[in-house]
Amino acid sequence: MSYGQIHETVKELARRVTEAGFDPDVIVAIGTGGFIPARILKTFINRPIYAVGISYYGLDNLPKATPQTIQWIDEVERKLSGKRVLVVDEVDDSRVTLEYCLKELLRHRPTEIAVVVLHNKNKEKRGHLPEEIRHYFAGRETEDLWICYPWDAEDIALHEDQARATV
Ligand code: G4P
Ligand code: MG
Repeated sequence: MSYGQIHETVKELARRVTEAGFDPDVIVAIGTGGFIPARILKTFINRPIYAVGISYYGLDNLPKATPQTIQWIDEVERKLSGKRVLVVDEVDDSRVTLEYCLKELLRHRPTEIAVVVLHNKNKEKRGHLPEEIRHYFAGRETEDLWICYPWDAEDIALHEDQARATV
C-alpha cells in the first residue's frame, strides 16, 4: 500500500461511516498502526483523536500470549463515557488485539463504538467483535498475506514503486 492508496481508502471509509449515520464524538487510534490512518481520517471526520497503545508483539518482536498495553491514557477513560467513539486500526488480522481493545473501551460506557480498519484479512479469527459493536468497516478485504505499509518502509521511493506495481 502506498500513502496515496491509504489516503483514498480512508476517504472511502469516512464516507461509509457517514452514510451509515454514525457521527462520532471522538476518534480512538490504536497505536501504532492506527495512528497515521486516524490522522488521515480526521481530514474527513474532524474529531479529537485519542491514542491508545496496544501491541501483540513485544519489544523482541515475538508474539505475546496476550496483547500488551503500551499506554492507556487515563483521560481516554474519562472522556469516553456517553460518547460515540470511532476506533481506528490499520489491520484486522487475528482480531485478538482488536477484541482486547474494544472490551477495554466498552468498560468506560461509551454510547456506541464503531470500528474502521484499512484491511481485514479473510481468515479464521481468534478474537471476536463484542456484540455491542454494530458498525464495522473494512477498507479492503484481503487474503492472509503480509501487508507492507509505507510507514514501515526504509526506502519509501522503492516502496511506493512496488505498491504501484502490485495493485
Ligand atoms: P488484530 O487484533 O488487529 O487483528 O491484530 P493482531 O493482534 O492479530 O495483530 C498483531 C500485530 O501484527 C499488530 O501490530 C498488527 O498491526 C500486525 N500485523 C498483522 N498483520 C499485519 C500485516 O499484514 N502487515 C503489517 N505491517 N502488520 C501486521 P501491533 O502489535 O498492534 O503493533 P503496531 O505495529 O500496530 O504497533
Ligand atoms: Mg496495529
